[in-house]
Amino acid sequence: MSDVLLEVNNLSVDFYIPKKDSIFPFKKDIVTAVNNVSFQMQKGEVLGIVGESGSGKSTIARAIIGLNKSTSGSVKLNQQELTDLHAHQLRLARKDMQMIFQDPLASLDPRMTLGNIIAEPLKIYEPELSKQERRKKVEEMLERVGLSKNMINRYPHEFSGGQCQRIGVARALVVRPQLLICDEPTTALDMTIQAQIIELLQQINREFNMAILLITHDFRVVAGMCEHVLVIQHGKQVEYSDTLSLFCQPQENYTKELLASIPRLPD
Ligand SMILES: Nc1ncnc2c1ncn2[C@@H]1O[C@H](COP(=O)(O)OP(=O)(O)OP(=O)(O)O)[C@@H](O)[C@H]1O
Ligand SMILES: [Mg+2]
Repeated sequence: MSDVLLEVNNLSVDFYIPKKDSIFPFKKDIVTAVNNVSFQMQKGEVLGIVGESGSGKSTIARAIIGLNKSTSGSVKLNQQELTDLHAHQLRLARKDMQMIFQDPLASLDPRMTLGNIIAEPLKIYEPELSKQERRKKVEEMLERVGLSKNMINRYPHEFSGGQCQRIGVARALVVRPQLLICDEPTTALDMTIQAQIIELLQQINREFNMAILLITHDFRVVAGMCEHVLVIQHGKQVEYSDTLSLFCQPQENYTKELLASIPRLPD
């Protein structure tokens, strides 16, 4: 069996936005947010995506999971092409790939209890589970991400940013996806809390051999966690290499500039 989990080939994403200063609403400007990006992930691999703000990192992630429609190119998960799936087929395929977001509180429904938030993916993907079985899984998950099962009936606004991100991780993890996409999961958190969330993601990666696609601005995290790195600038990939080579022998000027902007390089 192949060890390749995700294959992205020549992925492009265009957005059409109303033309500035035009009186004709049908005239659109094209923004090419992602331009011919290709990379692969092995099962259990951690891949980092770095690049300045607006370079297209989130759009790549959203196109993989189907939240943004690709304009061209291919995305294969376990050799299954995802870009031409119908909505309900894509929904099924999403069991194997889950995503967590930059703003943990905003990504949780404020009207739902923790128990219901974490149980929701189970209701979709494992409808055969009884209520008790579901509750047991939710409780296990809460404890696994460092929360308490006594919190099951509480609401997101009662928790800190770090705790909300743990809830997001629990919701993503409960269906045991093979790929976890993390879009700047720690940017909105304090330094110490950031380290705890990264530690949790590393544990999950090892424990479940779960591949992680990690979008980050933090090169210390890249150095500590990622096996390969994809550098994106203006929607194009400027460098794609193993992490050690990227730090020791960056090939492109843009990568050198990014690395030079780090206050102190990790060893
Ligand atoms: N829904 C959308 N409609 C129109 N343009 C969009 C949309 N989403 C993103 N863009 C544009 O696509 C480009 C890439 O945006 P994206 O959010 O992917 O960047 P990013 O690398 O994730 O940035 P950041 O580091 O700030 O999160 C930007 O120019 C952005 O304005
Ligand atoms: Mg982004």
